[in-house]
Formats: sequence, C-alpha cells, structure tokens
Amino acid sequence: MKLADYKATLSFSNGSPAMEMPVYHGSIGPDVIDIRKLYGQTGMFTYDPGFLSTAACQSAITYIDGDKGELLYRGYPIEQIAQNCDYLDTCYLLLNGEIPNEKESQDFHKLVTYHTMVNEQMQFFLRGFRRDAHPMAVLTGLIGALSAFYHDSTDINNPEHRHIAAIRLIAKLPTLVAMAYKYGIGQPYMYPRNELSYSGNFLRMMFGTPCEDYKVSPVLERALDRIFILHADHEQNASTSTVRLCGSSGTNPFAAIAAGVACLWGPAHGGANEACLNMLEDIQAMGGVSKVGEFMEKVKDKNSGVKLMGFGHRVYKNYDPRAKLMQETCNEVLSELGLEKDPLFALAKQLEKIALEDDYFVQRKLYPNVDFYSGIVQRAIGIPVNLFTGIFALARTVGWIAQLNEMIGDPEYKIGRPRQLFTGAARRDMPQVAKR
Ligand code: ACO
Repeated sequence: MKLADYKATLSFSNGSPAMEMPVYHGSIGPDVIDIRKLYGQTGMFTYDPGFLSTAACQSAITYIDGDKGELLYRGYPIEQIAQNCDYLDTCYLLLNGEIPNEKESQDFHKLVTYHTMVNEQMQFFLRGFRRDAHPMAVLTGLIGALSAFYHDSTDINNPEHRHIAAIRLIAKLPTLVAMAYKYGIGQPYMYPRNELSYSGNFLRMMFGTPCEDYKVSPVLERALDRIFILHADHEQNASTSTVRLCGSSGTNPFAAIAAGVACLWGPAHGGANEACLNMLEDIQAMGGVSKVGEFMEKVKDKNSGVKLMGFGHRVYKNYDPRAKLMQETCNEVLSELGLEKDPLFALAKQLEKIALEDDYFVQRKLYPNVDFYSGIVQRAIGIPVNLFTGIFALARTVGWIAQLNEMIGDPEYKIGRPRQLFTGAARRDMPQVAKR
C-alpha cells in the first residue's frame, strides 16, 4: 500500500481535539483511512457491524469491483481465466501470484494428483457419522480431523508445513466430498485415479462404482471445472474472514479451513445454492412459471421473510460476472444431457427476467449471483442438493489457504480481536439468593 498525499481529519462537535489520520492507496479500488491509532489518541472505537466500511487486511489476491461487476484473480479477469485455465492452474495462480508456465503447470498437476488418497483410517472416522448426516456437518468434521491424521503439517508458522497442508487440502477435498456422498448412499468408496483430470477424477469418485468402468463426459468435466474456478476465491467474504480470524490465533491450517467450511454452510453464504434450488423446486411444486408473479409479491413483502435466493450480494451491485459464466455452462450442460426443456431452468430464467425489470430489485441493485444457476448445473450433473455447498467448499479451499498464507506472511499480521460497543448492565452487586 502507498501513503496518499492527503490525510483524513476527524473532528468532534464536543470540543475534543481533531485527529489526523493517514490515507493509503491500493493498486485499484477505494483508498483506506488508517484508524489504528484512533483508540490510543481518542479512547474511541469505530462501530461497523457487518464490516460495511472496514478493510480488515491488505490483500493482493482477488479484486472485486462490485459496481462494474468485475472479478480479478491476481489481476486476471475471471472470464479469461474461465476460458484459458483449468482449476489447478487457477489454484497455482491464487497460491503463487503468477500463472504457471507449461512445466510449472505439469509439476503442480502431478503434485496435487499424487496426494489425492486419504489415510485409510479416515474411513473409520467417517463411519462414526449417521448415514443421513448433512454432508457439510460431515465435511467440517473430516477436514478438522485431517490435523489428527497428518501430524507433519500442523504448524501454521512453518511455511513448509503450510505448503504441504495446502497441497493436501486441494488434493484430498474431492476424495473427502465423494467419500461423504458415497457413505450417505451406502455405496463403496472409489479410490482416486491418477490418469484422470482433477474434475474427471472427482466425477468418477462420485458416480463410478467398482462394478463397471466409468466414462467421464468431457462436457460435464469442463462444467465442474468451471464451477470450481468460479468459486475458487472471492476476497474477504464471511468464510475467508473466518479462516483468517481463526488462523490468526496460530491454530493449525486444517482447523482454520474447517472453520471456513462451517461458516460457508449458512444460507446467506455458500448455502445459498442449496436454498436457491429448494426455492425453485418449491415454486415448481406450487405450479411453476404461472406462480412466479405470486412468489415475487411475497419476496417484495418485508413481512413474509421470503427472499429471492441466488439474488443480491454484499459487494456486487451489478450482474455477478460469475453468474453470466454459470448461465453459459448451464446451457451447455443441459443441451449435452438433452435437458434443454428443464422446467427449473425455465423457471429460473423467468424469475431473473421479472426481477431485472422490477423496481424493487432495480432500486436495490439486486442481480443474480453465482448461486442462481450453479444449483441447476449441479443438479443436472447428478449432484444431490445437500452436497452443493460441499462442492463450493471443495472449490473455495484454495482461496482460503491462499488468504491464510498471505496473512501469516504479512508483517502487520496480529491476532484478530474486534472491540465492541457495550450496551449491557454496568457494574452492579450480586443480590442475596432470597432477593433474586
Ligand atoms: N431477495 C429480496 N430482497 C433482497 C434480497 C433478496 N435475495 N437481497 C437483498 N434484498 C433487499 C433487502 O431486504 C434490503 O431491502 P431494504 O433496503 O428495503 O431493507 C436490501 O435488498 C439490501 O439488502 P441487505 O440484506 O441489506 O444486503 P446485504 O449486503 O446485507 O446482503 C445478501 C447480501 C446476504 C447476499 C442478500 O442479498 C441475500 O440474503 N441474498 C439471498 C441469499 C444469497 O443468494 N446469498 C448468496 C450470496 S453469494 C455467495 O455467498 C456465493
């Protein structure tokens, strides 16, 4: 960050002295006011629930321009990455800052491929779960448990440990997600196959059985790879901030990533794709496209508590660029599978059309986000709805690790410790039991 040639002055109407604060420029995006000395100089905190105006760190990984609807990984537009890279090259880019050359790409693919198996004991750990447990509950447990299985990569302050943990997490997440799925449906686990691509291997571990060969469809393989790319990182969102905060205590990398998975599960974050597909299915059950108008009235009624899932975003106040790419993939997958007339896709398009023209959505700048179409693609591939957020977690793992590494390497890194505006009881004396 670069010191700006102007300062911010904070003045008070109660006669307290004004305070000058430095301002910094990033490479792009809004300037920030450095308030670190505010408490020391004034005895006051800032108040910003939900971090609406707070930059909690400096980062060089992902940049979002919410008004333009632009997303850059290490400077490269998401559209160019989606068209020119596979997911593992994207991982390399996020972790290392540069796009790999041919040799670096081959080495990285090989490194990840040769770490896809999990310790055989993981199977017995998995067996402790109910078969009907939600996959996100299972994944949170499995990822946390990796620290117990891989003792040689649990020191977050050791760059080598962090590197090994990063490769293990990227490599093993597909295996764990597929194992959680197979366990739920009572089928045997499929071991990874090294000759397949990252996404092709995942498809086989999910949908193959030991009884026959599984043929990977290149269209579905590409679609899944794109889902992974589009979800790989998204700067300081709730789960990434959770990983940073959790990791800031010096906990081990697997534990920090498990915390991110737990956060991602919520319907306002990664759980939105599951919630969005459930919403589409509910409207379909009510009567489909003919009921869209009625549903939209409920969405606009503040008292109904109904939201249009897959719409709106804290940062994007324009079309989420990932939603456009996902819609393209949706068309490709549905036509490959002969599902062009899929009623849920028709319903989603109709909802989008109405929402983009409706004053309620226009005024609030609510546009489709990535989850609006990703659920339809995943459902068409055959992924069960309750595993959607698990797929998101698989893809986002690299972003979490890249952000965690960046934080640990930042000389300004400190344990995260927000302050509060206290509104509870001031000091009082404990009454005798008889007077309570
Ligand atoms: N449907 C209906 N109204 C909405 C929606 C929606 N999906 N999203 C926001 N609004 C309305 C709010 O009610 C509010 O209206 P008001 O100003 O009249 O009170 C206004 O738009 C602003 O919304 P906020 O909730 O203040 O926006 P915030 O930035 O806090 O929330 C969020 C963003 C959580 C994503 C929200 O838009 C939402 O809940 N969307 C649906 C869930 C979803 O799709 N989440 C996925 C996010 S992307 C991701 O995690 C990959």
